Amino acid sequence: MEVASSSSAASTVSSAKTLIGEVLQPLYVVIFGMAILAVILFASLKHLRYHQQPEVHLPRMKKKDMTIAELKKYDGTGEDGRICIAVNRKIFDVTRGRKYYGPGGPYSVFAGRDASRALACFSVSAIKDGYDDLSDLTSSQMNQIHEWDMQLTDEYTLVGRLLQPGQQPIDYTDSEDETHDDDKLKDT
Ligand code: HEM
Repeated sequence: MEVASSSSAASTVSSAKTLIGEVLQPLYVVIFGMAILAVILFASLKHLRYHQQPEVHLPRMKKKDMTIAELKKYDGTGEDGRICIAVNRKIFDVTRGRKYYGPGGPYSVFAGRDASRALACFSVSAIKDGYDDLSDLTSSQMNQIHEWDMQLTDEYTLVGRLLQPGQQPIDYTDSEDETHDDDKLKDT
């Protein structure tokens, strides 16, 4: 008699468990689905936010060589929003690429800085504050830098050279001819 009652209790517990399982399982599926949806929505909004940044068209910048401290001024937070980055000792005006380098953009950490090491190491956090002579990089990392240099040269305007400590800037004022200025830069 006692055995019969305990087995019926066990079966009641087991059917209650099945019932709870049947109710909860779809609930878990819904919660899991909603969580995935929220992540996708968040990522799309973030993506939209930097893609919707207004295009900034500024007058062509006068050519000038800069120290790392001077380059810092062109981080996109200035009055005109100009953004420059250095790669391979060359400084590019990347203001047109504000969606990448502007505040909130995926590569905003490069704005006003030398991005060479980060690009060579494929890591946005591999970036130094002071002047970086890149002397510890491998030849394949240096090749990466040269490839980025070529890509940026195609896309953006070359503004000048990144000066090493103690290096003198080139005087670009003696020529009104832009091609002549570009030749001066290429020769260095
Ligand atoms: C899985 C990781 C990554 C993905 C999926 C990715 C994807 C992309 C895409 C789709 C673009 C836009 C390309 C275009 O419109 O032409 C882009 C641009 C760019 N990426 Fe990445 N990227 C990644 C990681 C990195 C890392 C680690 C770096 C550097 C350390 C980097 C540097 C850049 C730069 C500088 C640009 C802008 C180039 C320009 O100004 O035109 N990316 N990336």
